[in-house]
Amino acid sequence: MKVRKAVIPAAGFGTRFLPATKAVPKEMLPIVDTPAIQYIAEEAAAAGIEDLLIITSRGKDAIINHFDSAFELETVLERGGKTEMLKASKNVSKGLNICFVRQNEQKGLGHAVLCAKNFVGNEPFAVMLGDDIVTGEKPCIGQLMEQYEKCSSTVLGVQRVGKENVSKYGIVDCEEDNGRLHKVKGMVEKPQISDAPSDVAILGRYVITPAVFDCLEKTQKGAGGEIQLTDALVMLAERENVYAYEFEGKRYDTGDKLGFLRATVEFALAREDLGNGFREYLKSLDL
Ligand code: UTP
Repeated sequence: MKVRKAVIPAAGFGTRFLPATKAVPKEMLPIVDTPAIQYIAEEAAAAGIEDLLIITSRGKDAIINHFDSAFELETVLERGGKTEMLKASKNVSKGLNICFVRQNEQKGLGHAVLCAKNFVGNEPFAVMLGDDIVTGEKPCIGQLMEQYEKCSSTVLGVQRVGKENVSKYGIVDCEEDNGRLHKVKGMVEKPQISDAPSDVAILGRYVITPAVFDCLEKTQKGAGGEIQLTDALVMLAERENVYAYEFEGKRYDTGDKLGFLRATVEFALAREDLGNGFREYLKSLDL
């Protein structure tokens, strides 16, 4: 079955980015001039996703407004002949049917994904975290969707992160082989270095079968007192095959201050309109 639907959980508090995230959703913080979540929606559209559900929460209405049309603004831009600006405002949700659900309490990523149950129905679906941007030639989620079409099983997007960073991620234990696709034997959310089965981390992209919802309904609070998606995936892996795919591309955690700065600098350098000027400015700094 083709993957047509995607879910972006974007309801979290974003405590790592306080004080900015007190009133501004972290997914709306701009990387140069574009909110992080728009890059993710664009990745979904480029991979052929048709229906997108964004999970929001109280105080995150800026996300809903961003993907809505802005009649007054767009009328003024149109009258003024500002076509490029008009395009920038209008193109944010191009090619996607976008809808929203509120997670009424931030009980964790697993709970946020469970809020998508009615939207997903009985189909495989993509999950893309609202603050993880991945760049590369092929859309990251498209790479996982391709693998899903071959194995008809849940596929987790993974990369190695180095032992010192394992406590920040869901870490997978997989069967070794030569390719990029590995069968998952086990998973653990945010392990201590000493308990980590590997340094292969799940990095914000998943294609999951709908059987996960039954697992999520049975999942108890785990790491950090939250209902963890990784714990539900462990249960799922006991019932059906789950694979990890080492995707190609560079991933930025924009919900982390250093990750946000890296993305900002690299995206600005890559921009045709800003890259040269910004490069000259960086060279002039006494580093
Ligand atoms: P994070 O742990 O990165 O997000 O969750 P957070 O909790 O917002 O951030 P910090 O750690 O406090 O800074 C990963 C993803 O899951 C979503 C977040 O919005 C983020 O995209 N999430 C997390 C929810 O949607 N609901 C939750 O209850 C928790």
